[in-house]
Amino acid sequence: MAVSILDADLGNLANAVRRAEREGADRIHLDVMDGHFVPNLTFGPRTIKALRRRTRLPFDAHLMIAQPGRYIAEYIDAGCDSITFHVEIDEPIEPTLRRIRDAGRAAGLAIKPGTPVLALEPYRELLDIVTVMTVEPGFGGQSFMDDVARAKLLAAREILAHKLHGAEVHVDGGVNRETAELVGGLGVDILVVGSALWIPGRDMGREIRLIRSLADEGYQYQLNAGKPPIPRDRLVQFATLTREGARRLRTEVEAAGIPVLLFRSLEDPADTDDEARRWDVLIPASSEAAARARFGRRRTVIARATGSRAPAASA
Ligand code: DX5
Ligand code: ZN
Repeated sequence: MAVSILDADLGNLANAVRRAEREGADRIHLDVMDGHFVPNLTFGPRTIKALRRRTRLPFDAHLMIAQPGRYIAEYIDAGCDSITFHVEIDEPIEPTLRRIRDAGRAAGLAIKPGTPVLALEPYRELLDIVTVMTVEPGFGGQSFMDDVARAKLLAAREILAHKLHGAEVHVDGGVNRETAELVGGLGVDILVVGSALWIPGRDMGREIRLIRSLADEGYQYQLNAGKPPIPRDRLVQFATLTREGARRLRTEVEAAGIPVLLFRSLEDPADTDDEARRWDVLIPASSEAAARARFGRRRTVIARATGSRAPAASA
């Protein structure tokens, strides 16, 4: 859940981001509007930079501006962890996506309700995020466009199919307890939620948990054959190898974009020498299927070549 602060008290944004963090938000979604690309004006990089030290949550910037290329360095400098701008702009898109990625941040493109997913096709290799807008950008509190969600969300996932880890489809606009189950069932990774959380008197924490679990239910029963979703932060053991083998496998898996952790295996006594003992190769559970498809054989080959065996579960 990325909490949009667009409908928070704009006179007290520091309090808004702290509150969102306290109530269980996963990220802060920052809606930047320039009065040109959309008929509304919000805040810019200086405000974002000032908010940066008020919370530890990741900052997810959504730039609804005509010239992101001109200002991108400022948003990077402000501490945005992901930066998404619109494919409908009249300037080159690729250089801006590259600058975001070169800075080590996640890069995304957003599409307005009238823009086909196909418009993203030329940029797919440069995308970490696709944001499908289910309202016309510009204002919070509008109603959710059901038909847009149904027509585009699964197709958006296809655009990111090349990424083995960390690709995200975001849905932005009109997400609330009435619409969360539908978007979850369409495989969305990140729900951007604004006005539903800032209703005076509403228990924000409860609303966040409710919307998140409705989305998870939708995913489980629509797309995931009744099985609950796998949290991205859960790690699984992908192999147990000698140190040399573990390092070799880590290099290859990380080159494909899947993060890897190495831990001393508990199968060997605690005082075993680091070079002599075996090491567990851990990867995010959400990328296990992709890793298995791509590196299942390599894992066995490396295990043989370096004198250790793959775990029984790997067969
Ligand atoms: C609209 C913004 C959205 C908006 C979401 O232009 O991009 O992020 O704030 O707010 P709700 O949840 O009210 O639609
Ligand atoms: Zn937004």
